[in-house]
Amino acid sequence: MSVACSKIILFGEHSVVYGKPAIAIPLKSLFTEVRIENSENIEINSDYELNINEQNNLKNIINLILNYLDIKNKNISVNINSNIPVASGMGSSASLSVALAKSVSDYFHKELSPEEISMTAYKCEKIFHGMPSGIDNTVIAYEKPVYFVKGKKTETVKIGKPFTLLIADTGIVSSTKEIVLDVKKEYEKNKGLYEKYFNGMADIAEQARIAIKEGNIKLIGKLMTENHRVLQKIKVSSSELDNLVETALTNGASGAKLVGAGRGGNIAVLAENNKNKIRNELLKAGAADVIEELIE
Ligand code: PMV
Repeated sequence: MSVACSKIILFGEHSVVYGKPAIAIPLKSLFTEVRIENSENIEINSDYELNINEQNNLKNIINLILNYLDIKNKNISVNINSNIPVASGMGSSASLSVALAKSVSDYFHKELSPEEISMTAYKCEKIFHGMPSGIDNTVIAYEKPVYFVKGKKTETVKIGKPFTLLIADTGIVSSTKEIVLDVKKEYEKNKGLYEKYFNGMADIAEQARIAIKEGNIKLIGKLMTENHRVLQKIKVSSSELDNLVETALTNGASGAKLVGAGRGGNIAVLAENNKNKIRNELLKAGAADVIEELIE
């Protein structure tokens, strides 16, 4: 059986699609497990419901991996279990892609490096999403915090001082593919303005990279909130996300922002003090779930 973690983008979602730097971290408490068994034909079983479209996507993805590994016998049963909320900014599809690449290569005794797993998962992500930046498959394949720039060699980031994040779910699903396309339309209409926003996020990510390495928790929090403000300007936040972010901030969080594509899904809260109070207030403000993760 193979396991792949989930992730959040701590800095630079959306601007990363336009070649700007972003920082993502793996989350170990939410993950996908895939078990491969022998079978009469290709069979997919999962602990969540898959519609016809998703079944077909998955078959294409499994074929893509088998072809990459040059495997002729394609009759396997693929069993998927996941506790990652789908379409919620946690990288559920990239986690599934990485877990599939790992489990199929393990089953056929073909060793793949993290780089090859990431590259294979990227091709799978294209089937799910159209034009992914590649950050999700990278952070999940490496299982380490990464500083990522599209097309450049990935750098891992050392955490100077551990910090705690609360991840609060709006309970609203959203389509990464649609939101990325909407941002593209707005970008085409207002190139100058959007370049300004994306450069602003690039600047935040560069400062954050140093703050994380130096363990400057206060600055990490401040930059998270600044990043959220830019995401609001590019119209990927929502009243539910903003409500959770403001609740966290007014109850003593060091910083808070939406994570991933936006318009639903999760926020990340840097909670050094008042952790329990912030969690309770987030639940009272309508969060469907709040999980805690130590980033170290
Ligand atoms: O919502 P998620 O977890 O799929 O993250 C999307 C991140 C984007 O920057 C919006 C898109 C991308 O491909 O990087």
